[in-house]
Amino acid sequence: MDTRIPLSPTSGPAPDTISISNLNLSLGSGAARVHILKDISLRVAEGEAIGLIGPSGSGKSTLLMVMAGLERPDSGEVVVDGTAFNGLDEDALARFRGRRIGIVFQSFHLIPTMTALENVAVPLELAGDPDAARRAAQELQAVGLGERLHHYPTQLSGGEQQRVALARALAPDPAILVADEPTGNLDESTGKQIVDLLFAKHAERGMTLVLVTHDTGLAQRCDRVIRLRSGRIDATQPGTAARASA
Ligand SMILES: Nc1ncnc2c1ncn2[C@@H]1O[C@H](COP(=O)(O)OP(=O)(O)OP(=O)(O)O)[C@@H](O)[C@H]1O
Ligand SMILES: [Mg+2]
Repeated sequence: MDTRIPLSPTSGPAPDTISISNLNLSLGSGAARVHILKDISLRVAEGEAIGLIGPSGSGKSTLLMVMAGLERPDSGEVVVDGTAFNGLDEDALARFRGRRIGIVFQSFHLIPTMTALENVAVPLELAGDPDAARRAAQELQAVGLGERLHHYPTQLSGGEQQRVALARALAPDPAILVADEPTGNLDESTGKQIVDLLFAKHAERGMTLVLVTHDTGLAQRCDRVIRLRSGRIDATQPGTAARASA
């Protein structure tokens, strides 16, 4: 007889993928130490898309780094996919991040000495995937770069570089994708292509998405829009995705 207790209910609301409770974070040292995130509590449901907006310096990127386990809070709790970050050391946190969280930055962060294919394959190889090169090629094809596998970042346009970065983030099939102004360095039409791709992948894979943007129209495409002001959550509103499905 199977006596295991089911880990998740079969019905009811989607479980939280990200749960942040009473989080405070300061950066810098001595007199330059700044209290950046102030008493943030936030839950993001599995498969939900969150748009994070707010003025420059309000703490959006810092909050994203906390969700990705790249910054540690002074106090409070971060639980992602049922795993409490407080209990993990740096190595365990890096392993967790590699498997579960994809990150896309405004400035792409590609490795300049590696081709598009190698950039996408590296995280897969690090995760021990024996099929890394083939999967990397598939991901690049999925973002329309099947003809650019062996190009170096300097040989690619900004939009193409961001698509490589997106393929790299998506390749390990993360449960969560966090994107920090992924269109900030792109012209409007290229930016729109990247965003359409991002939302298509979010819908296709049921991936939880946290998108930092200065573009309120873009944030509105999410299920929920959260506005930060001076390190605090200032307002939360439904986006058009939520209204469309209501
Ligand atoms: N290492 C650091 N040491 C001290 N202060 C920092 C550090 N990193 C960020 N800050 C400060 O934290 C605040 C929040 O920064 P953050 O980058 O999260 O803002 P943001 O909302 O992403 O802004 P932007 O829209 O300009 O990207 C800013 O006032 C910034 O100066
Ligand atoms: Mg920022």
